[in-house]
Amino acid sequence: MSFHPLMEYDRAKFQKSARHTVPEGPPFALTPERRAQLDEIVTKYPPDRKRSAVLAALYLVQEQQGYLTANGMRHIAPLLDMTPAEVDDVATYYVMFHKAPVGKYVLQVCRTLSCALNGAERVTEALSEKLGIGIGETDPSGMFTLVEFECLGACDRAPVVMVNNELWHECLRPEDAGQLVDAIKAKGAAVFSGCHLEVER
Ligand code: FES
Repeated sequence: MSFHPLMEYDRAKFQKSARHTVPEGPPFALTPERRAQLDEIVTKYPPDRKRSAVLAALYLVQEQQGYLTANGMRHIAPLLDMTPAEVDDVATYYVMFHKAPVGKYVLQVCRTLSCALNGAERVTEALSEKLGIGIGETDPSGMFTLVEFECLGACDRAPVVMVNNELWHECLRPEDAGQLVDAIKAKGAAVFSGCHLEVER
């Protein structure tokens, strides 16, 4: 949530949250294909800098099981000459890694300055109201998860919503946010406006 200086807000509600514990999850091993991908990525770095591939490795784990677990991080840690705690430190720092199962569509609303000034917090509120969930939650149908994100680099098209780290919706007015949910339910990913850099290319 971002705030205009004149907005009233419940300070206690937005105090620094307690550190989340990543769930153990089921036993985990990368598929042979993803393991080969990781091995290839690791070769791009000096032998004593394998840990530089940690973000790529975490993306592979998340791609395979939809979210990160302690077992997933334990699996990749020795492949990168890291401890599980070091991998956990990286994973819990970045918001693009999910630490619990998420919906089919992860709606990630940018809350940084340009988007905030153009109503991003209202977009988040509208989506929250429409879906009946709070930030970081998944709706009962398992279709939508609502997340706040930092600048997505499309500030001239604010407010911006990134979906599943690959799809994009720009210039989303708060009053249209509820309709976007209905449209996604009816037509799926086809309703997203896309990133203008891609659309105009
Ligand atoms: S501030 Fe939202 S995309 Fe940059």
